[in-house]
Amino acid sequence: MQTVHNIAGLRALVDQWRSRRERVAFVPTMGNLHAGHMHLVKQAAGAGDRVVVSIFVNPMQFGPSEDYAAYPRTLKADSLKLAENGVHLLFVPDMAELYPNGVEATTRVEVPGLSDILCGAERPGHFTGVATVVAKLFSAVRPHVALFGEKDYQQLLVVQRLAEDLCMPVEVMGVPTVRESDGLALSSRNGYLSLEQRAVAPLLHNALQHACQRLVGGDHDFAAVEADCVAALGEGGYTPDYVSIRRSEDLGLPQATDTALRILAAAWLGKARLIDNLPITLK
Ligand code: PAF
Repeated sequence: MQTVHNIAGLRALVDQWRSRRERVAFVPTMGNLHAGHMHLVKQAAGAGDRVVVSIFVNPMQFGPSEDYAAYPRTLKADSLKLAENGVHLLFVPDMAELYPNGVEATTRVEVPGLSDILCGAERPGHFTGVATVVAKLFSAVRPHVALFGEKDYQQLLVVQRLAEDLCMPVEVMGVPTVRESDGLALSSRNGYLSLEQRAVAPLLHNALQHACQRLVGGDHDFAAVEADCVAALGEGGYTPDYVSIRRSEDLGLPQATDTALRILAAAWLGKARLIDNLPITLK
């Protein structure tokens, strides 16, 4: 595995591969890699001939009171894991490489609508930060395909929309969430949980599963299902931000004729804000 820190070095390698008609698969990350990331890397190896991973903790997607400074930076361990998993190129840009004019003054990518609801409503500016850095990374790496975890389902849709709207020649692929054996979705933020919090954390997935069963079983009172899910999370020690049943295609409010839905939730457990979601197919 080669590690490069600048865009010129990255382009030299990717250009070589592209000139040989090799397909480049890309997994952008913020590091602190866990088995969920490694699953994305394995899927990337199946989707392309060459796998590029980036590690960059993007300040633009963190709010002023969020965990940017505390976000775990574990480059050495991450780098070993990626090399063991057959990654060809690790791109680790510094701030000046991705934000040559600074974060405040940078050209921004806004994805209206999709960015303003659910997690976007709770975290103003978050998806503009994500969309901006992903557009920069796509333009630097020039991948044929890029892979994103479905745990961040809203992020996946934001990225698909930006690639479509900016006419980017990249296929944005969603990869199903990897879970612990008790159902908890893998996330870097699980590391913030105490032992007691970790023991109750699977409730987020369980509550969503229970809601899905009700919906699939024919209970289509969405507001009641959402409210019961919020109540169950509250009783279990979570402080929910939201539980919402949406159209899976665009996260719009579902109409009676919609059959492909998604239930999404965000909730705090101590200082960890955890998110999860599940697909629902109605008859
Ligand atoms: O999902 C993440 O880790 C980040 O939001 C991403 C896509 C790497 C952009 O910084």
